[in-house]
Amino acid sequence: MRTCCIHPSILSADFVNLQSELGRISTADAVHVDVMDNSFVPNLTLGLPVVKRIQAVSPVPLDVHLMIDDADRWAPEYAAVGAASVTFHAEAARAPIRLARELRSAGTRAGMALCPATAVEPYLDMLGELDMLLIMTVEPGFGGQSFLDVTLPKIRRAAEAIRGSDLPLVIQVDGGITKDTIVRAAEAGATVFVAGSSVYGAEDPAEAIAGLRRAASD
Ligand code: DX5
Ligand code: ZN
Repeated sequence: MRTCCIHPSILSADFVNLQSELGRISTADAVHVDVMDNSFVPNLTLGLPVVKRIQAVSPVPLDVHLMIDDADRWAPEYAAVGAASVTFHAEAARAPIRLARELRSAGTRAGMALCPATAVEPYLDMLGELDMLLIMTVEPGFGGQSFLDVTLPKIRRAAEAIRGSDLPLVIQVDGGITKDTIVRAAEAGATVFVAGSSVYGAEDPAEAIAGLRRAASD
Protein backbone atom coordinates (compact mmCIF):
# COMPACT_ATOMS: atom_id res chain seq x y z
CA MET A 1 0.00 0.00 0.00
CA ARG A 2 1.57 3.28 -1.14
CA THR A 3 0.60 6.72 0.15
CA CYS A 4 -0.48 9.19 -2.48
CA CYS A 5 -1.96 12.65 -2.96
CA ILE A 6 -4.53 13.61 -5.57
CA HIS A 7 -4.51 17.21 -6.82
CA PRO A 8 -7.36 17.96 -9.25
CA SER A 9 -6.51 20.66 -11.78
CA ILE A 10 -9.00 23.50 -12.07
CA LEU A 11 -7.89 23.95 -15.67
CA SER A 12 -10.67 21.48 -16.49
CA ALA A 13 -13.23 23.20 -14.23
CA ASP A 14 -15.88 25.73 -15.20
CA PHE A 15 -14.02 29.05 -14.86
CA VAL A 16 -17.26 31.01 -14.46
CA ASN A 17 -18.16 29.03 -11.33
CA LEU A 18 -14.80 28.50 -9.66
CA GLN A 19 -16.08 28.65 -6.10
CA SER A 20 -18.63 25.87 -6.58
CA GLU A 21 -16.13 23.91 -8.69
CA LEU A 22 -13.71 24.02 -5.74
CA GLY A 23 -16.46 22.69 -3.50
CA ARG A 24 -16.74 19.59 -5.69
CA ILE A 25 -13.16 18.52 -4.90
CA SER A 26 -13.11 19.01 -1.13
CA THR A 27 -11.94 15.41 -0.65
CA ALA A 28 -8.73 16.11 -2.61
CA ASP A 29 -5.38 16.77 -0.94
CA ALA A 30 -4.92 20.09 -2.75
CA VAL A 31 -6.17 21.95 -5.80
CA HIS A 32 -3.73 22.33 -8.68
CA VAL A 33 -3.85 25.84 -10.15
CA ASP A 34 -2.34 26.17 -13.63
CA VAL A 35 -1.04 29.66 -14.37
CA MET A 36 -0.18 30.17 -18.06
CA ASP A 37 1.07 33.34 -19.75
CA ASN A 38 0.72 32.61 -23.47
CA SER A 39 4.50 32.86 -23.78
CA PHE A 40 6.13 29.98 -21.92
CA VAL A 41 3.17 27.91 -23.16
CA PRO A 42 0.74 28.74 -25.97
CA ASN A 43 -2.26 29.21 -23.67
CA LEU A 44 -3.52 31.81 -21.21
CA THR A 45 -5.38 31.05 -18.00
CA LEU A 46 -5.37 33.16 -14.86
CA GLY A 47 -3.03 35.25 -12.75
CA LEU A 48 -2.46 36.67 -9.28
CA PRO A 49 -5.84 38.38 -8.65
CA VAL A 50 -7.77 35.21 -9.40
CA VAL A 51 -5.36 33.00 -7.46
CA LYS A 52 -5.82 35.31 -4.46
CA ARG A 53 -9.58 34.75 -4.59
CA ILE A 54 -9.15 30.99 -5.02
CA GLN A 55 -6.90 30.99 -1.95
CA ALA A 56 -9.59 32.84 -0.01
CA VAL A 57 -12.41 30.41 -0.78
CA SER A 58 -10.74 27.04 -1.43
CA PRO A 59 -11.58 24.20 0.98
CA VAL A 60 -8.20 22.59 0.22
CA PRO A 61 -4.61 23.97 0.00
CA LEU A 62 -3.34 25.48 -3.25
CA ASP A 63 -0.71 23.81 -5.42
CA VAL A 64 0.25 26.53 -7.92
CA HIS A 65 1.92 25.43 -11.17
CA LEU A 66 3.52 28.36 -12.98
CA MET A 67 3.87 27.88 -16.72
CA ILE A 68 5.24 31.37 -17.19
CA ASP A 69 8.40 33.15 -18.27
CA ASP A 70 10.32 35.17 -15.71
CA ALA A 71 9.55 32.73 -12.91
CA ASP A 72 12.19 34.43 -10.73
CA ARG A 73 10.10 37.61 -10.75
CA TRP A 74 6.64 36.12 -10.28
CA ALA A 75 6.87 32.93 -8.22
CA PRO A 76 7.47 34.73 -4.88
CA GLU A 77 4.27 36.73 -5.45
CA TYR A 78 2.28 33.48 -5.51
CA ALA A 79 3.99 32.38 -2.31
CA ALA A 80 2.91 35.65 -0.71
CA VAL A 81 -0.72 34.82 -1.56
CA GLY A 82 -0.46 31.87 0.81
CA ALA A 83 -0.27 28.95 -1.63
CA ALA A 84 0.86 25.72 0.05
CA SER A 85 3.26 25.03 -2.80
CA VAL A 86 4.54 27.03 -5.75
CA THR A 87 6.14 25.21 -8.68
CA PHE A 88 8.21 27.00 -11.31
CA HIS A 89 9.63 25.48 -14.48
CA ALA A 90 13.37 24.76 -14.59
CA GLU A 91 13.26 25.95 -18.21
CA ALA A 92 11.92 29.36 -17.14
CA ALA A 93 14.04 30.09 -14.06
CA ARG A 94 17.34 31.95 -14.32
CA ALA A 95 18.44 31.10 -10.77
CA PRO A 96 16.47 28.04 -9.63
CA ILE A 97 18.39 27.52 -6.39
CA ARG A 98 17.96 31.13 -5.31
CA LEU A 99 14.29 31.01 -6.30
CA ALA A 100 13.62 27.76 -4.40
CA ARG A 101 15.26 29.26 -1.30
CA GLU A 102 13.18 32.40 -1.66
CA LEU A 103 9.97 30.37 -1.85
CA ARG A 104 10.86 28.32 1.20
CA SER A 105 11.76 31.37 3.22
CA ALA A 106 8.36 32.83 2.28
CA GLY A 107 6.82 29.81 4.00
CA THR A 108 5.68 27.84 0.95
CA ARG A 109 6.82 24.51 -0.38
CA ALA A 110 9.17 24.91 -3.35
CA GLY A 111 8.45 22.89 -6.48
CA MET A 112 10.37 22.69 -9.73
CA ALA A 113 8.90 21.30 -12.94
CA LEU A 114 10.58 19.60 -15.88
CA CYS A 115 9.03 19.44 -19.37
CA PRO A 116 8.94 15.96 -20.94
CA ALA A 117 12.13 16.52 -22.97
CA THR A 118 14.12 18.08 -20.09
CA ALA A 119 16.54 15.67 -18.42
CA VAL A 120 16.58 15.39 -14.65
CA GLU A 121 20.33 14.72 -14.40
CA PRO A 122 21.51 18.38 -14.47
CA TYR A 123 19.28 19.03 -11.45
CA LEU A 124 20.12 16.04 -9.27
CA ASP A 125 22.56 17.98 -7.09
CA MET A 126 19.93 20.61 -6.24
CA LEU A 127 17.11 18.26 -5.22
CA GLY A 128 17.81 19.09 -1.58
CA GLU A 129 16.60 22.64 -2.31
CA LEU A 130 13.15 21.38 -3.31
CA ASP A 131 10.05 20.01 -1.61
CA MET A 132 8.58 18.72 -4.85
CA LEU A 133 9.84 17.72 -8.29
CA LEU A 134 7.11 17.92 -10.95
CA ILE A 135 7.77 15.66 -13.89
CA MET A 136 5.42 16.71 -16.69
CA THR A 137 3.82 13.71 -18.35
CA VAL A 138 2.45 15.80 -21.24
CA GLU A 139 3.81 18.89 -22.96
CA PRO A 140 2.58 21.74 -20.76
CA GLY A 141 -0.16 24.05 -22.01
CA PHE A 142 -3.40 22.12 -22.28
CA GLY A 143 -5.59 19.67 -20.42
CA GLY A 144 -6.96 16.53 -21.99
CA GLN A 145 -3.74 15.26 -23.59
CA SER A 146 -2.52 11.66 -23.51
CA PHE A 147 0.02 10.51 -20.94
CA LEU A 148 3.56 10.24 -22.39
CA ASP A 149 5.02 6.88 -21.41
CA VAL A 150 8.39 8.16 -22.58
CA THR A 151 8.59 10.09 -19.27
CA LEU A 152 8.47 6.94 -17.11
CA PRO A 153 12.24 6.23 -17.11
CA LYS A 154 12.86 9.81 -15.91
CA ILE A 155 10.40 9.31 -13.03
CA ARG A 156 12.26 6.11 -12.12
CA ARG A 157 15.68 7.79 -12.25
CA ALA A 158 14.48 10.71 -10.12
CA ALA A 159 12.88 8.36 -7.59
CA GLU A 160 16.09 6.32 -7.34
CA ALA A 161 18.16 9.46 -6.79
CA ILE A 162 15.79 10.65 -4.07
CA ARG A 163 15.77 7.28 -2.32
CA GLY A 164 19.58 7.03 -2.63
CA SER A 165 20.14 10.41 -1.00
CA ASP A 166 17.35 10.02 1.55
CA LEU A 167 15.75 13.35 0.64
CA PRO A 168 12.19 14.17 1.78
CA LEU A 169 10.98 15.66 -1.52
CA VAL A 170 8.09 14.12 -3.42
CA ILE A 171 7.63 13.46 -7.13
CA GLN A 172 4.51 14.92 -8.72
CA VAL A 173 3.26 14.00 -12.19
CA ASP A 174 0.93 16.14 -14.28
CA GLY A 175 -0.83 15.36 -17.53
CA GLY A 176 -2.95 12.52 -18.83
CA ILE A 177 -3.46 10.96 -15.39
CA THR A 178 -6.29 8.40 -15.43
CA LYS A 179 -7.09 5.25 -13.44
CA ASP A 180 -4.81 3.39 -15.88
CA THR A 181 -1.84 5.72 -16.26
CA ILE A 182 -1.70 6.53 -12.54
CA VAL A 183 -0.69 2.92 -11.88
CA ARG A 184 2.36 3.20 -14.15
CA ALA A 185 3.36 6.59 -12.72
CA ALA A 186 3.00 5.29 -9.15
CA GLU A 187 5.03 2.17 -9.92
CA ALA A 188 7.77 4.42 -11.35
CA GLY A 189 7.91 6.39 -8.07
CA ALA A 190 5.47 9.32 -8.26
CA THR A 191 3.34 9.97 -5.17
CA VAL A 192 1.50 13.21 -6.03
CA PHE A 193 -0.88 13.10 -8.97
CA VAL A 194 -2.46 16.00 -10.83
CA ALA A 195 -5.65 15.11 -12.66
CA GLY A 196 -7.72 17.56 -14.66
CA SER A 197 -10.09 15.98 -17.12
CA SER A 198 -10.32 12.64 -15.31
CA VAL A 199 -11.70 14.43 -12.22
CA TYR A 200 -13.68 17.37 -13.59
CA GLY A 201 -14.81 15.41 -16.64
CA ALA A 202 -16.37 12.78 -14.34
CA GLU A 203 -20.01 12.87 -13.29
CA ASP A 204 -18.94 12.64 -9.64
CA PRO A 205 -15.52 14.26 -9.02
CA ALA A 206 -15.36 12.89 -5.44
CA GLU A 207 -15.80 9.35 -6.74
CA ALA A 208 -13.17 10.00 -9.44
CA ILE A 209 -10.73 11.21 -6.75
CA ALA A 210 -11.42 8.09 -4.67
CA GLY A 211 -10.91 5.87 -7.72
CA LEU A 212 -7.56 7.48 -8.53
CA ARG A 213 -6.49 7.09 -4.90
CA ARG A 214 -7.37 3.38 -4.93
CA ALA A 215 -5.59 2.80 -8.26
CA ALA A 216 -2.41 4.55 -7.09
CA SER A 217 -2.31 2.87 -3.69
CA ASP A 218 -2.87 -0.75 -4.75
C1 DX5 B 1 -1.17 21.03 -18.47
C2 DX5 B 1 -1.46 21.33 -17.05
C3 DX5 B 1 -2.19 20.27 -16.34
C4 DX5 B 1 -3.54 19.94 -16.89
C5 DX5 B 1 -3.71 18.45 -16.77
O1 DX5 B 1 -0.20 21.88 -18.94
O2 DX5 B 1 -0.27 21.59 -16.33
O3 DX5 B 1 -2.26 20.53 -14.94
O4 DX5 B 1 -4.61 20.56 -16.22
O5 DX5 B 1 -4.89 18.10 -17.39
P1 DX5 B 1 -5.23 16.57 -17.72
O6 DX5 B 1 -5.29 15.85 -16.44
O7 DX5 B 1 -6.55 16.68 -18.41
O8 DX5 B 1 -4.13 16.07 -18.63
ZN1 ZN C 1 -0.30 21.68 -14.17
